[in-house]
Order: sequence, then structure tokens, then C-alpha cells
Amino acid sequence: MITPFQRAWVVTCRGTPEEALSLRTDWPVPQKLEPGEVLVKVEAGALNPAGWKMMRMMPNFVFPRPHVAEFDFAGTIANANGTELFEGDAVYGFIPVEITQKTRQGALAEYIRIPEDYVVPRSTNLTAIEASGLAAASQTAYQAIYVQGQLSPGQIVFINGGSSAVGAFVIQLAKGIGAKVVATASAKNEVFVRKMGADEFIDYTKLDLAKYLVEHAPSPKFNLIFDAVGLIDPSLYTHSEAYLQCGGIFITSGPLPKNTSAEIWTLLKTVVALVTPAILGGTRRKYECVAL
Ligand SMILES: NC(=O)c1ccc[n+]([C@@H]2O[C@H](COP(=O)([O-])OP(=O)(O)OC[C@H]3O[C@@H](n4cnc5c(N)ncnc54)[C@H](OP(=O)(O)O)[C@@H]3O)[C@@H](O)[C@H]2O)c1
Repeated sequence: MITPFQRAWVVTCRGTPEEALSLRTDWPVPQKLEPGEVLVKVEAGALNPAGWKMMRMMPNFVFPRPHVAEFDFAGTIANANGTELFEGDAVYGFIPVEITQKTRQGALAEYIRIPEDYVVPRSTNLTAIEASGLAAASQTAYQAIYVQGQLSPGQIVFINGGSSAVGAFVIQLAKGIGAKVVATASAKNEVFVRKMGADEFIDYTKLDLAKYLVEHAPSPKFNLIFDAVGLIDPSLYTHSEAYLQCGGIFITSGPLPKNTSAEIWTLLKTVVALVTPAILGGTRRKYECVAL
């Protein structure tokens, strides 16, 4: 028996999670499903940096509040609604931002109404908690490497933040393609990053990364740079002509400041670096944000 109301962590205003989140017990359970939608009973929801960044940054007219927090989830099908799934199937998936904007749903609730395209069956060797962390990070990595980066076998890719959730997927996908991978992390994560498949490792805490890469540029230069950290400082990009091939691409997971007042000037430097034409000293390399 599905109750008409559910518990949900709801984003009520712009601010930090502490300021913005409220545990509601009267959030409505979706009653009516459109064709192609399923109802998922949530077992686990994951926290993602995108969640708190949007909570803090996005104005109400872009991201209407109140809405339920977060995007990644795992659970079981509560209503298959005539789709190819069955009641009780173990699944995981994610809620795209545009669905939250439209329906105010999020992962930190007991039930989610979602098109079946955003849900995949979960194998028995994955717990709900493990599976809830997979969808957005792996899709971001796929989008960066396959769709925007179009990495090919034999190419060489530099991944900043190889120990991050997105970075670890990027390493595995790049190795699967047959590319050579150079990745950064701090020393405590070297074993993990190499286990993911990195051929070369750089401890970013011990050096000025852009300066190091200028001095140790590979030959041939990188075909693709993926900044999985979303650095606010633009120097890894602005120095990239020295180590990224002409025709190569610099992709970032998205430079959103953690602390708006302290980092806004650094972010402005990034904006200036991106809009300055080459004739006025701008960087002659393509720069893109990964777009899910
Ligand atoms: N997760 C997603 O689904 C997703 C989707 C789209 C965009 N993003 C964006 O991608 C970025 C990373 O997200 P995530 O979830 O993958 O993060 P995460 O799993 O929390 O990873 C953070 C890791 O980044 C590494 N790091 C921090 N500063 C670094 C630096 N200056 N240079 C190199 N590595 C550094 C640290 O590695 P060490 O501990 O080894 O130092 C840290 O453990 C965020 O900006 C996020 O908004 C994430």
C-alpha cells in the first residue's frame, strides 16, 4: 500500500545544505504516471557535488524551490506502468535537472516518478548504496570521453582528479578505448588511480601543475585534457598550448565556486580567459564544459 505522503529532504531556499534543507513528512507521493514513466521505491540516494553547488548558487527562477534534493538513486520498481520493467525489479538511475525543475522531484525521497529511460536494472552483486553512486558520475565521464572528447585508441589523455568519482570512471573508459592515461591525485590515492588503469601518476599536491606540465610536456602532446575537479583557477587551461595538441580539447566538469565571495574573482579570470580572442593573447585551444 503506497501512502499519499512521503518523507523527503526538501530544498526550501538558496543556501548551504544546513540552511536550505528541511525534512518534510508531507511531501506528496506521485499518484499519476505518464505513459513510459515508472514509480521507483527509493532504497538509497547519493550526495553529489552538483547538489550542494546548485542549492547554493541557483536562483529560484532557474531552479524553482521547494524541490526535493539530489539526483542519483537506487531502489525497486513500485509501479512498472506497462513498461518493460516489472514490479520488484532492482534498479538504479538518476533524475536529470530538467525533470527536477519541472516536477520538483529529487533522490532524497521515498518515491520517484521517472521515465524508464533514466532507470537501468541493477545486478545482484551491487547493493543499493553502491549503485546509487554510479549513474551521474559515469554518465558525466562517458559524455566527456566519448561524446565531447571523441577519444580514440592510441591517443593520450590527461585527467586532473583521477581519484574523484568522475575521474575514476574517465580513467577506466579511456583505458577501455585504448588510450594512454596520465592522471593526478594526491599520493594517498596513487594505488587507487593506477588500479583504475592510469599509466602515469602525478601527485598534484607537490607541484604547480600547469608549470610542471609545461616543463614535462609529452611528445606528442595530449589529445584531450579532462579536468574532473572543475578547477576555478584557469591556469591549467591558459598554459595548455604547451602540452595540448593543436586541435585537442580541454574539457572541464564545471568550475562552480564553493565559496562565492572568495572565489568569484578567480572565476572571473576564467571567464576572461575563455572570451579573450587568440589575437589578443587568448588560449588557442578549445574549451568545453561537460554537459549531461
Ligand atoms: N559526481 C558527479 O556525478 C558529477 C557530475 C558532473 C560534474 N561533477 C563535478 O565534478 C567535480 C568532481 O566531482 P566528483 O563527484 O567526481 O568529486 P569527488 O568524488 O568528491 O572527488 C574529489 C577529489 O578531487 C580531488 N581533488 C581536489 N582538488 C584537486 C586538485 N586541485 N587537483 C587534483 N585533484 C583534486 C581530490 O583527490 P585526492 O583526495 O586524491 O587529493 C578529491 O578526493 C565537481 O566539481 C562536481 O561538481 C560531478
